[in-house]
Amino acid sequence: MNPTRLPFPFPVVTWTGAAVRLLDQTRLPRELGFLDCCTIAELGAAIRALVVRGAPAIGIAAGYGLALSWRLGREAGEDPPRLADRLARDHDALAATRPTAVNLFWALRRVRGAAAAALAAGADPARVGEALLAEARAVHDEDVAMGRAIGQAGQALLPPAGSVLTHCNAGALATGGYGTALGIVYAAWQAGKRIAVFADETRPLLQGARLTAWELQNQGVPVTVLADSAAATLLRQGRVDAVVTGADRITAGGDVANKVGTYPLAVLARRHGVPFYVAAPSSTVDLETARGEDIMIEARDPEEVHGFGGLRTTPQGVAAFNPAFDVTPAELVTAIVTERGVLRPPYGQSLAIP
Ligand code: MRU
Repeated sequence: MNPTRLPFPFPVVTWTGAAVRLLDQTRLPRELGFLDCCTIAELGAAIRALVVRGAPAIGIAAGYGLALSWRLGREAGEDPPRLADRLARDHDALAATRPTAVNLFWALRRVRGAAAAALAAGADPARVGEALLAEARAVHDEDVAMGRAIGQAGQALLPPAGSVLTHCNAGALATGGYGTALGIVYAAWQAGKRIAVFADETRPLLQGARLTAWELQNQGVPVTVLADSAAATLLRQGRVDAVVTGADRITAGGDVANKVGTYPLAVLARRHGVPFYVAAPSSTVDLETARGEDIMIEARDPEEVHGFGGLRTTPQGVAAFNPAFDVTPAELVTAIVTERGVLRPPYGQSLAIP
C-alpha cells in the first residue's frame, strides 16, 4: 500500500534532459510512479489533471516546460523567429492550464524573461536554451530554499509539543520538494519539537487523505486524517494548537486563496481562539491584485464531486458545485509566514516591504 521512502527533498519535478518528469500524484498513495512529459500538450494535460499540483510545483513544472519547448523547436530545426513563436505559444498554453495559483504565471514570466534577455544579448539558440534551463533550475532551487526558510521561521510559532491542523497538501509534494505548511512541521521536528498533524481529507480530490497523510507518514510524522466536517469538533475540543495552510495566491492586502475548505477553517479557528497561519513563498504573493474578490477561482469539472475512484455517489441528474479554491479574508489570518519571516497585519504594509 505505502510505497518506498522517498529521498528528501522529494523529486516532485525533474528535468531529464528530454522531458519534464513528474511524480504522479494521481496514483498516490496506491503506488509511487513518475510520468515523463515529452511535449507541451502532455505537460499541460498533466497540470490540469493534477499529476503535478500545488502552487509552487506547477510553476516549477511550467518553467521546465519552456526549456522543453525550446529544445523541441531546435530538434525540429526551427530558426530563431520560429523558435520564439513556439516559445510564446507554449507559454500561453501552459498559462491557460490553471488560473488561480499565481506561481504559475510568475515562473513562466521569469523563465521566458531569461530567454528574452539572452536573445537581446545576441545569444545563439543553443545559449538561449541554456539560459532557459538555468532559469528553470533557479526557480526550482530557490523554491526549496524558500521552503526551508519558511520552515525555520514558522516552527518558532509552534509549542515544544502539540498539534497542527492543515488542509489539502502544502507539503513537499506541492512544491520543489520541501514544503510550506508542512515545511513548518518538518522544521519543528528538526528543532526537537513533537508536533502531530491533523489532516483534513479535503474533498473532493482528497489531497489531504491521499497526499498529506502519505508524505507525513513517509517522513515519520504522526498524522491523523479527518473528514473536513470534523474539524469544528476537533477545534472545539481544544485539540489544535494552530491551523496552518498553504496558499495559491495572496493579495496585496493579505487575502488568501487556497484549496476550497480553507476559509471555513479560518472562521472556525477565530471562533475557537486558535491562530490561523498561512505559509507561502513570496512567489505566491501577488501585489498586483488588491483584493480577494479579484482572484480568478478555478471551477473544476462537477464530475469530481459526483464520486471518487470511479464510484458514483450522487443520483444521476443532480447538479454539483465545484470551485477548486476559496478566499480567506486577511482579517482572519493571524500571520503569513514567508521566507522573509513571520508577517503580521496590517498586511498591506508587511507584504509590501521587499
Ligand atoms: O488543487 P491543488 O491540489 O493544486 O491545490 C493546492 C493547494 O490549494 C495548496 O494548499 C496550495 O497550492 C499551496 S501548496 C504549497
